[in-house]
Parts: sequence; C-alpha cells; structure tokens
Amino acid sequence: MSDSSSHQDSASQEQAPQQEVQIHYRSDYRPYPYDIERVHLAFDLAPNATVVDTTLTIQRKTDADDEEPLRLDGVDLELMSIAIDGRVLDESEYRLIEDGLEVLNPPQSFELSTKVKISPDTNTSLEGLYLSSGKYCTQCEAEGFRKITFYPDRPDVMSTFTVRIEADAKEFPHLLSNGNRIEHGDLEGGKHFAVWEDPFKKPSYLFALCAGDYDLLTSSFSTMTGREVRLEIYVDKGKLDQCHHAMESLKKAMKWDEEVFGLEYDLDIYMIVAVGDFNMGAMENKGLNIFNTKYVLASQDTATDTDFIDVEAVIGHEYFHNWTGNRVTCRDWFQLSLKEGLTVFRDQEFTADQTDHGVKRIEDVKVIRSHQFAEDAGPMAHPIRPDSYIEMNNFYTVTVYNKGAEIIRMYQTLLGRDGFKRGLDVYFERHDGEAVTCEDFVRAMEDGNSYDLKQFRRWYSQAGTPEVEIKSQYDGDKRQITFTMKQSCPPTPGQEDKAPFHIPIKIGLLDDLGNDITLKPLALGETDARVEGDIVHLTQAEQSVTFDDVPETITPSILREFSAPVKLKYDYSLKELIFLFAHDSDAFNRWQAGQELFSRIIFGLCAQLEAGEALVFDESLVNATKNLLDDNELDGQFKSLALTIPGVSTLIEQVSSINIDHLIEARNFVKRQLAEALELDLLLHYQTNHHVGDFEQDKESVAKRALAGTCLSYLMTLEKEDVYQLALKQLDNANNMTDASTALQLIVHSHYDDKLKVAEEFYQKWQNEELVVNKWLAIMATDPSDETIDRIESLLDHPSFELKNPNKVRSLIGAFTGANPAQFHRGDGRGYRYLARQIKALYAVNPQVSALLTGAFNRWRKFDSARQVLMREQLEDILKMPELSKDVYEIASKALK
Ligand code: TRP
Ligand code: ZN
Repeated sequence: MSDSSSHQDSASQEQAPQQEVQIHYRSDYRPYPYDIERVHLAFDLAPNATVVDTTLTIQRKTDADDEEPLRLDGVDLELMSIAIDGRVLDESEYRLIEDGLEVLNPPQSFELSTKVKISPDTNTSLEGLYLSSGKYCTQCEAEGFRKITFYPDRPDVMSTFTVRIEADAKEFPHLLSNGNRIEHGDLEGGKHFAVWEDPFKKPSYLFALCAGDYDLLTSSFSTMTGREVRLEIYVDKGKLDQCHHAMESLKKAMKWDEEVFGLEYDLDIYMIVAVGDFNMGAMENKGLNIFNTKYVLASQDTATDTDFIDVEAVIGHEYFHNWTGNRVTCRDWFQLSLKEGLTVFRDQEFTADQTDHGVKRIEDVKVIRSHQFAEDAGPMAHPIRPDSYIEMNNFYTVTVYNKGAEIIRMYQTLLGRDGFKRGLDVYFERHDGEAVTCEDFVRAMEDGNSYDLKQFRRWYSQAGTPEVEIKSQYDGDKRQITFTMKQSCPPTPGQEDKAPFHIPIKIGLLDDLGNDITLKPLALGETDARVEGDIVHLTQAEQSVTFDDVPETITPSILREFSAPVKLKYDYSLKELIFLFAHDSDAFNRWQAGQELFSRIIFGLCAQLEAGEALVFDESLVNATKNLLDDNELDGQFKSLALTIPGVSTLIEQVSSINIDHLIEARNFVKRQLAEALELDLLLHYQTNHHVGDFEQDKESVAKRALAGTCLSYLMTLEKEDVYQLALKQLDNANNMTDASTALQLIVHSHYDDKLKVAEEFYQKWQNEELVVNKWLAIMATDPSDETIDRIESLLDHPSFELKNPNKVRSLIGAFTGANPAQFHRGDGRGYRYLARQIKALYAVNPQVSALLTGAFNRWRKFDSARQVLMREQLEDILKMPELSKDVYEIASKALK
C-alpha cells in the first residue's frame, strides 16, 4: 500500500487564492503522544451559555518525547478556566492556537480540567451540540466534538466517558448520553441531573448527548446468550404511532447480526433519538443513536413502501456499526471506508434477506452507476481510502460508502460466504477495542483464508472506474468459445497510470432455451485467466479464457450480479440482449440486458436528433417489453425495475459528452412510443395491480403497488384525459402514501390543467406532517416544465421551507439539481444561478450541506460549451465569496481545476 502522492505538487496546486487552506495527508499519520485514560464531562445546559466542565486523566506514552506539548482540538469554545491537578494554569503554561489549545511542558501523568462556554442556540452547522425543535442533541462525527470541549478529537484516541447532564426538569425531562444511567436526581431551582457511564472505550466521534421532552417507545430484546436489552426510541411529542416500524426493524437487525455473523449487542440499553434537523441519515453513537426523523418515523399514511425499507436499512446500518465501527473503529479518517464500506455491505445483505436478493442488487447497482461512476469520473474522484482531504466532511461519499461496499462484496465473491466470515472472525479476534486501518482488514481476510490479496489491495489505492472490454470468438470445429478481456482505468486527479486490478467476473453461458450450461474452462495457458466455479479472475491488462463443449447458439451472460464495480464493454447484438432480457437466470443481468437495450435505442435517437433527422422508433423494444409485462412468473418489483428506463444521470455516465436537450427528448420519446404501442397492456396491468381496499404491506402488495405505479407513469405520457382521471382517482382514494405520492407526482409533472390546484390541496392536507411536506417540496421541484424555476424561487419563501433545515434543502434544492435535469440544465442558465444563490446563502449557515449542493456542478465539463461557460461562471463566483467555508471551497476549487 504505497503512498506515491507528492506533497509539494498537490499543495501548490490546491493553494487557495484568498485563504490558507490546510490539506491533510494520509501519509502524515502519527500516533497521539498521550493516553486519555478517563473523560469526565459535566454539562450545564442553556441555549446561549452551556457550560462544559471537562476533566481528562492523561498519561504521556512511554515512547513519546517529553518536550512535546499537549495539543487539544477546540473550535468556537470560550475558555473559562484551565487547571492541572486542581492548580489553575497561568498564561505562560498554555497557549490558545488556531482551532485548539496547547499545554506547555505538561507532567508525565496528570488531570487536566477545562471549563468552556458554548452556544447551542446559534449553532446552525448541526455539528457539536445544537438545538433541534427545542431539544438538545449532538453530532460529533467526524470532527464535531471539538465544538463541545478541548480534546484530542481523532478516532485513535479512545477513552471511557462519564457524563453528567444538568438542565431544567420541566423543559428537559429526559437527559441522555452513552452507556448506562448510573445516577439521577433533582436539584434546586427546578433543575435535575443525570449521570451516564459508558463502560466501553470509545473515540470522541461516538459521544452523544440528548436532552428534551420526548415521547418514548420502549421494548426489549433477548440476545443469543439470554441477556435482556432494553430498547428505547425517543421522538417528538405526538409521533409515537410512527415508531413501531423502527422498533421492529431494530429487533430484526439485532437478530440478523446474531444469526448471520454471530455478533451480539453488548450493553443493557439501546437508545434511538429522532431529530428533525440533521446533516445526514443517522449516527451510530455508542448506545445512543441519533437519527434523522426521515429514517425513524413511518406510518402507512405518511411513508411510502420505499421509506419503510429505507427506515429498516438505516436502523440496521447504525445497529451494525456497533461492531463494525464502534467495537473496532478507524485509526484515522482516511480509513473511513473500513467502517462505512463494511457496514453498508452488511445493511445491503440485511435488506436483501428481508426483501429480495435480485431486486436489492439492482437497486444498489443503480446507485453505483448513476452516482458513484459520476464521482469517479469527476473532479472529486478519490480511492475508497483517500490520500488527502481539505475538509473531512466532504469525504462521506458514494465512493467511500457504496464503492467501499462493492469492494467488501468482492471479498465474499472471492472467498465465499464462509471464507468471508472466517476473515471477519479473525478481524474481530485481533482488533476488538482497537482503532485500525483498511490494511488490518485486508490482512485479516488474507490470514483467515490463506489467500493472497496483494493485487486486490489496489482497489483501496486507485481511484476511477475500471473498464473491461471483452470480445468473444467461437470455434465451430472445436465447439469452444474464447473470451479475450482487456482492462484499463482512466486517469483521475493525481493518478495518471494505474496498475491492473484483480477483477472477479461472474459468468454464465445460456443455451438456445435460455438454460445455463455447465462451464468447462480449458487448462491454463500463459495468458489464460484463472476460473473458479463461475468466476473468471481477470488480473492482467489483457487475458483470455476458453470454455469447452459449447454449442454454437450460446449467449454469454457476463458480469452477473455485477460481480465487480466496473464498466463492461461487450458487443452484444440486439438479438442477444432481447434473449437475455427474456431468459437470463441472473436477475441482475436480465435487468441489465433491458437497460442496455433502452440505452442503445436512446443513444441511437440522439444520433438522429444530432443529424437533424425525424425520430424513428425501434420496434424491437415493444415486443421485449410486452413479453416482460405479460410474464406471470416474474416478481412485480422486478418487472417494475425492468420497465423503468435508465435515468438521465445514469445515461450521462455512458458517454463522454452530452447534448442534454437531445438526451431528454430521446428518452421521453422512447417512453411515449412504448406507452402508445402498449397502451392496452399497460392499462390492463395497471388495473390488475392497483388495489383499492384494505392496505397490506406484504411483499406481493408492495410489488403490485410498484408495478401499477410504473404502468401509470407510462400511460401519463399519452396526455389523455381519462388517464389523468385515473391518477386523480388514485390520489383521492389512496389509503397509503405510496399510491398518493406516486399519483401526485405524475399529476404535478404532467400538463394537466388543474395540477397546481391538486398540489395545493395535497399541501393543505399534509401541512402538519413535515416528512410528507418534504415529499411535496421534492415533487414541486422536479416538475420538468419550464415554470418550475419560478415556482421553486417562490417556494424559498413558502412557510414549508427553511434554509436551516437540511431535509428541506435536500427536498427543494437537492431534488431540483439532482432529479430535474431539464430545468437544472436550462439553456438560459437560470437553474445554475438559482443553485449558486442558495450555496452562497447557506455556506456560512451550514457548510456541510452547502458543500453537498455544490457537488451538483461537478460534471460541468460533460456538457455543451455554452452550458460549460454558464456553470463555470457560477463556480468562479462562488469562489469569490468572502470567508467561504473550506467545505465549499474544496468542492468548487477542485471542480475548476
Ligand atoms: N457515521 C454516519 C453513518 O454513516 C454518518 C454521519 C452521520 C455523518 N452524521 C454525520 C458523517 C455528520 C459526517 C457528518 O452512519
Ligand atoms: Zn455508517
């Protein structure tokens, strides 16, 4: 795992014009010279003047230099006092530095006490201690703890925490922190207190505190060794009826981790607190998870089927972190994928086991292809283990998370389920209670299996999406098929040349009836790839593989299950794609064949538009789609996915430059042509799958709702009055949010005359359910019609909108930039200017979220020159802003490089 990046180079390249930015390098890692043996925190909560009393028991490490000052991180803290072993320090004994504090010449072993004042009320960054609808909560990952007290705020400093919280008893009846409550009682002046102790050593990023007046749902779980764990979910008053699904999900996750990985929960209590203001999805703080309300609250009326699955997945994700993240944590933030890639993989497997493996795999690959491939091909490209960053918050990315999960998945592909499990066992045996690196994980996998992963390690160090080009040749005399395979990886910022990856390619050969034949790989020659079962190991830049005893009519199915995160280039004929779409036993590749059919036809139409020709529709798609629709054996959820045309963001990643107007026109044309050709079938399938009557949420009912929605979405393109009426009826009669929001979206995104009236009625009905209002905002923002830009302008002043709330920002602005390509990429540049104005309004309020928005400009080089100019202007303008946050600076400056 070499580090070849040259500091000098990158430093001079990334020099900010206006401000000093510090670049952090992975290769600069040095252990912290002190052990923090114990942490005592005492909070006296008050909105503008919370006082935090901290006592740290500190010991200099035996191998540390005794000249070394003690350096602590601290941001936005007002230091009130500082003492060592009870003796107040004078000003020559410590020094306040930028974002921290230094204690000069500290003794070998001592207690350091600090008292600081902080202001949760004005903390809009939602990092550190802040208020969300009148209740206190914290967010410390990655570097938020330094906004609470002076501390070595890095994940390899682990300690045991005792936390005392004091607040008004009426206003804040619940006072929560990590671990077990060991003491509580009343105080003078209507106040009360609670003391919490976490027996497990943890880094500061896992610290949490919540205080407020909540409704509480309790339950319990009996572990595999018979211990009772108390389960508690805290939510805003009045939301208790929306917590039951989260509670059931938690129990399922606890059970699943015991059954699949033998991992048991380790404390007597597990708490979840839901907050409305949160930068991300949720946070795995030890024993006290804090969640975005979006991933806790769910009821039939307010949440869609997808929301239900998402809640279950995120509850699972945070729960699984207790072992992969908390018990074994990261040495430094460059290792983030160690916990996130692994935990995403675990939550993906969990969801697959609760739902359907094929469907779940397709959903996960869609995210990789639309978002991760885009990141890999853009200015922010980085390996799953980055080498440098300016702002760590910018590296909670689809690459670290989702590509990271793909890398973990490949271990399971290479080593088998049992082998993967053996590797994990070694990992926990060796590293429980430690802060470790990705390298430690790879070594555990190697040692648990006696398997050489030397080349596989390149997935950690090289950025970019590998391309695998495969050609086949059939030899009729020998009845053999030979595949020649070439791999390459495009250059990414700071990485020109890449060495070959170890790429597992899962393969199948279908006979003319669509059945898989037995694979008989030929004996190894010099350039032959190794084959194990149905996995071909591509390890060199160029390799081939030959299979024996193959009939002439064979159709290859390559990269089944998306066995590696690569772009596959294989020149399928239309006939072969149609065949695979009808027969492939691998759900992923069956879906993929259909997606490739769609893509080819769309890009064919783009070429026609480019040449100024009238659009001619390729009928081959009609029959293929009809057959799929009529296949009664097929799962409705799969059908719905297979009928869905690839999204614009996925299509964009398949070509080097894009005429966005043509792409959207071609895509709409295909949808409408299919709807015209299959109108009666679509109507029939809509009617048989759309269900009125009692609400059920079993797998079959969910699938039916999905398929009905997809059929209706096709039919709406016909712009017929009777279809509008169908959608209106679905909205009016809906007894669940899936049907209601699908219908609302289709109506709002159509040319139906009264659509705004319908939208307004929906808003009036749901205005007090924040999560539903957020859906409404997103639907308004993603209407592809030209008036949307005016509407989202005025929605900024709508009572439902609040710039300080990340969920609202994501629903209105994020949805507009990410899911309304027609309007975001308006030729007049108004979409870009709108986004830039919001980034400028937000960067000082919430740097993390405004940086996320800035990423919408990352692919600007893909567009036509007029749009490139328009987007570049906005980026340049943003960079001129005074006191720009380093979060936004990093994204915008890298985009322009
Ligand atoms: N560790 C969290 C997760 O993936 C991510 C997270 C939650 C986070 N809140 C954050 C990351 C704030 C950075 C900043 O489960
Ligand atoms: Zn996570």
